[in-house]
Amino acid sequence: MMLVTAFLLWWVYQSSLNYLGWGHWFTLRDLELATNHFSKDNIIGEGGYGIVYRGQLVNGSPVAVKKLLNNLGQAEKEFRVEVEAIGHVRHKNLVQLLGYCAEGTQRMLVYEYVNNGNLEQWLHGAMQHKGFLTWEARIKILLGTAKALAYLHEAIEPKVVHRDIKSSNILIDDEFEAKVSDFGLAKLLGAGKSHVNTRVMGTFGYVAPEYANTGLLNEKSDVYSFGVVFLEAITGRDPVDYGRSPNEVNLVDWLKMMVAKRRSEEVVDPTIEARPSTRELKRALLAALRCVDPDSNKRPRMGQVVRMLEPDGPNLHEDRRHRRHRDDTAGAEAQRDNSDTDASDNPDSKPLRTRKGRQ
Ligand SMILES: Nc1ncnc2c1ncn2[C@@H]1O[C@H](COP(=O)(O)OP(=O)(O)O)[C@@H](O)[C@H]1O
Ligand SMILES: [Mg+2]
Repeated sequence: MMLVTAFLLWWVYQSSLNYLGWGHWFTLRDLELATNHFSKDNIIGEGGYGIVYRGQLVNGSPVAVKKLLNNLGQAEKEFRVEVEAIGHVRHKNLVQLLGYCAEGTQRMLVYEYVNNGNLEQWLHGAMQHKGFLTWEARIKILLGTAKALAYLHEAIEPKVVHRDIKSSNILIDDEFEAKVSDFGLAKLLGAGKSHVNTRVMGTFGYVAPEYANTGLLNEKSDVYSFGVVFLEAITGRDPVDYGRSPNEVNLVDWLKMMVAKRRSEEVVDPTIEARPSTRELKRALLAALRCVDPDSNKRPRMGQVVRMLEPDGPNLHEDRRHRRHRDDTAGAEAQRDNSDTDASDNPDSKPLRTRKGRQ
């Protein structure tokens, strides 16, 4: 009996240590078990922040473990404070942080596993064995991403500027729902730490001009990066592609030129089988170009972008028959969207990918 009581007390103590209110505090041992001792076979990829491993927790849930580059400058306490802040942020279009591990010099983040690749892989190759994204799928993914950003910028306090919006940070699930990853990381790793400087400054090709020039940023810099992703999704082109002729290297400049020359119809990704109507295309291009306005004050807020992208919104799908009224504010909208059920998505149930091998 004594033994049972002692065990129960120990168990309660242990769980209170590991449970953070929003997630879990993992030990190095937990994560070694989950990733087969960080085996090479479990590596999903490597970005500027560290290596990402696929893993499985003892309860069976698949996870992605991000082993951060050794960051000796960061005190454990400071790390915890920042991670706690990220951990409390929840939205169906944000990859959920399940917990973290801080032991010795090791720093790791444990995320829900998103199993259908990322937008970069779908647009530029690595997922093409699975087919190509349709126009509808692209709009759905952009809408989800816009909702996540509207939530970070407009619905929570303190607001979060992502700072590294790019297609490889937009993960995709089985329903082709966008899950934005790496939010809060630039801040977590801190500005001015030399080895992460390039990452703190965002990713080449996506960075807003004012941020690149002055290092000053606000949420409008995320809007610019989102605009670049938007153009990338329409055209299937990389933001910067040195393999192309000089006036096509920079996606934003090339697009502005094509639109000015009234050649918009030519910019659509040739892998999109069922092309959008001229009207839909023009409205999408207009929305994207507003996001990449060189003047940050002229860019829309993400809540406005959400409305432009919505199936019943003022912009993209004007000629849809089923319209509903929506006049609430962006913030309230972002807040409401923070739920797991959203029957309004993809109302027409059009296919979201087409098989490879047409043409
Ligand atoms: N939660 C996750 N679930 C599944 N795959 C993930 C997850 N987080 C990151 N990845 C994948 O791991 C790889 C490396 O990611 P990351 O280190 O963030 O680099 P980057 O964002 O520069 O591509 C990418 O292919 C990314 O799609
Ligand atoms: Mg990433």
